[in-house]
Amino acid sequence: MEIFADTADLKEIRTWMDFGVIDGVTTNPSILLASGVYQLREGIVEIAKVLGDMPLSAEVVTDEPDEMYTQAIAMAGWASNIVVKIPVITTLGKPCFGVISALSKAHVRVNATACLSFNQTMLAAKAGATYVSIFGGRVADEGTDPAQVIRNTAQWLKMWNLPSKIIVGSIRETINIQDAALAGAHVVTIPPKFLYQMADHKYSRFTVAQFLADGLSAAERMRALEVGLGVDAGGAKKTPAPRAK
Ligand code: E4P
Repeated sequence: MEIFADTADLKEIRTWMDFGVIDGVTTNPSILLASGVYQLREGIVEIAKVLGDMPLSAEVVTDEPDEMYTQAIAMAGWASNIVVKIPVITTLGKPCFGVISALSKAHVRVNATACLSFNQTMLAAKAGATYVSIFGGRVADEGTDPAQVIRNTAQWLKMWNLPSKIIVGSIRETINIQDAALAGAHVVTIPPKFLYQMADHKYSRFTVAQFLADGLSAAERMRALEVGLGVDAGGAKKTPAPRAK
């Protein structure tokens, strides 16, 4: 499974790339706005550059299918790793599969975004979307189990050997990440604050603190016995031996 960072924060993107954890990045207009990125092209090109070959999803900003196509072609030309996000329908419910299909035929990678049902993911995959994005948190907002939508889509794609990959986004709690991973997501896109939460555990901190304290105590005793540590053997000044216990 791949992990994408759901963010436009360059510092976090660099950090999680250095950790060797992330395989790409997703953005949307709300994420860019929250990060203070108002110049779409400039902001996207900067992130794309940092990512190298890794994919970066960036969304069109129009409700008009023809205009979506034009914007998508332009955006795909900004950098070779850009994947264009096309909403599965417009604000008025008009299907955008024609745009997805035409872009796919023009060899532009499409992330069919804002999918909230298995029906939508099937149609987007049929239209040629490289990725179908299931918004898990928003599916749950509507009282539906996101795991079921992810599982159905994953099984169906496999059953018919279709190449679309499922991205699960709209993560609200770290448990959503585990649920998506086990339900068959090919990619989970995660805001950095949840990546840190995934890494942390209070009992791990306690365990590491215990071992560190004991290791330092052992080192101190070795010094006290004038045995010396491997690391400073021969060089370091020995501390005077304490009273025998
Ligand atoms: C990712 O591709 C989505 O744009 C993002 O995860 C949506 O999250 P939200 O439902 O919290 O806006």
